[in-house]
Amino acid sequence: MMTVSELATSRPLSVRVLQRHGIDFCCGGARPLDAACTARGLRAETLLQEVDAVEAEARPDARRWDQAPIPELVAHILARHHRPLDTELDRLDFLVGKVTTVHHDKDPAMMDGIRQAWQDLLDDLLPHMKMEEDLLFPRILAGVRAGPDPGLGSPIEVMEEEHKAVGRTLATLRALTKDYVVPDEACGSWRALWQGLEALEADLHQHIHLENNVLFQRVLRS
Ligand SMILES: [Fe+2]
Ligand SMILES: [Fe+2]
Repeated sequence: MMTVSELATSRPLSVRVLQRHGIDFCCGGARPLDAACTARGLRAETLLQEVDAVEAEARPDARRWDQAPIPELVAHILARHHRPLDTELDRLDFLVGKVTTVHHDKDPAMMDGIRQAWQDLLDDLLPHMKMEEDLLFPRILAGVRAGPDPGLGSPIEVMEEEHKAVGRTLATLRALTKDYVVPDEACGSWRALWQGLEALEADLHQHIHLENNVLFQRVLRS
């Protein structure tokens, strides 16, 4: 088994995971990874899976999507940003329902606000992604471009407006949760919800960036 410092050196993004678990990779890095994980009540395989996830998440940043073939970019958006939401939105929906019910009395205005903003987000996001999947992306893949009717200029404008609405709702959620700082009194579900919403925000920002700034720009310019 490799040591902690070997992991940190060969897979630089693992540092984020090690830090998250309070595992020393600098001065105490000579320990075998197994032992360091056990000391934190954690299995090494679990930690390595988290490293895989962090690396998978960072990968799109490394790829020049402005230069990749458009079908590859569309496939990437679908696989990396659309499909994971099929289950993640359900998981968060369950947590929103639970936390805003069980802990409603702790801060009724905040809990009501979160419930409403979450519903707004779902109402905007679900039909939006369906429209991209059923209509816009297939037309892009079929080679339809901007230009006079039936070009893609106006459908793209609609998608961009909907992205703005999603961005505003994400900002509302961030304000309501005070930047996702977990309150001391928070139980496991509450904590999981704040972490899940913050991760969703990061994911949607990247998702919308790839559509607005990369895919749509390329379609409109070509
Ligand atoms: Fe999308
Ligand atoms: Fe979109």
